[in-house]
Amino acid sequence: MNDGLKTKLIDRHDRRLNYLRISVTDRCNLRCTYCVPRDRIPRLSHAEILRYEEILRIVRIGVDLGITKVRVTGGEPLVRKGVIGFLESLAGISGISELTLTTNGVFLEDHAERIRAAGIRRLNISLDTLQREKFARITGSDALERVWQGIESIRRHGFSPIKLNVVALKGINDDELIDFARLTFRHPYHVRFIEHMPIGQSRMKTTPPLLVPEIKDFIRPLGEMLPIEKNADDGPAERFRFKGAPGEIGFISALSHHFCSSCNRLRLTASGQLRPCLLSDRQLDLKGPMRAGCKDSQLAELFQQAVRNKPSDHNLAVNDHAGVSCQMSSIGG
Ligand code: GTP
Ligand code: 5AD
Ligand code: SF4
Repeated sequence: MNDGLKTKLIDRHDRRLNYLRISVTDRCNLRCTYCVPRDRIPRLSHAEILRYEEILRIVRIGVDLGITKVRVTGGEPLVRKGVIGFLESLAGISGISELTLTTNGVFLEDHAERIRAAGIRRLNISLDTLQREKFARITGSDALERVWQGIESIRRHGFSPIKLNVVALKGINDDELIDFARLTFRHPYHVRFIEHMPIGQSRMKTTPPLLVPEIKDFIRPLGEMLPIEKNADDGPAERFRFKGAPGEIGFISALSHHFCSSCNRLRLTASGQLRPCLLSDRQLDLKGPMRAGCKDSQLAELFQQAVRNKPSDHNLAVNDHAGVSCQMSSIGG
């Protein structure tokens, strides 16, 4: 099995890239304020989106080069037809030691059993409020209850850990950050607070974002947070636990603290672009060469080329919407 140490994907800054995030669709059943603009933006057509067989081919090549961790995202991955079968095929690729999914949770209850049977053991769910009306305001859909039922259902099915992604939004959910943190006293969930990144177009006013030091101030009244050591396969979250709590708190300082020096990620967009950095629009087309009949070795060379071009870090300024023009939904976060 590939242990990631043998990776051929080492960039100019000596970072070993063993984590591939795949956006399987740019479509989503929700319309979150910070993700979807007021004016309709064209969605990718059926033909523009990578077919599952194409993604699987790319993943197999990535795994040969040293990818060991794969995350499926969107848009909302569970809206794409056939996604469960695709997850099963992914799970069957030997060399992937961790296969995960990020979802908004609305369809989780319907699919929990099949996702589990497909071989997924842990899930990340995006959830920015615990209040029904506010959920409807943020997402345009009265679906909080369904998301919550989905979370409870995956807990019953034994998924662990269950990570809840909370994008911290000034004036929108800052009053609830403490309620989210409180959840960790009652549930084994990992509640992760994420700094909002100004990516693509959205309906959000460009107020200065809430940064992690300020987010920590909101939840400080709950007591001391004990740091948890990160393990090698961890994502970008800084981890903590309140004394005696079964759950965890995580902070993802996407803007304020660059975790770029330890970045292990590559991204495959829904349209088949290999993107070495979330926050840089530089990307390499895999779909074109693939559909023109290129060989696996040529795709492997493109992987390595993308890795060679991975930026050392990002310089996205706070409120810098011009910084990244791609929509988050097609990159997959
Ligand atoms: P775990 O492996 O479960 O820790 O997952 P993860 O944090 O890598 O993935 P998830 O899809 O849950 O993403 C959580 C948040 O982190 C999202 O807002 C992502 O956009 C953000 N994020 C993930 N990777 C990066 C990255 O490389 N750079 C930046 N700036 N943000 C990232
Ligand atoms: N900034 C930070 N996180 C974001 N997400 C979506 N858009 C943004 C943004 N602009 C989060 C979602 C999801 C994860 C993949 O990315 O909430 O949990
Ligand atoms: Fe990696 Fe780019 Fe994210 Fe920095 S901003 S951590 S380099 S993906």
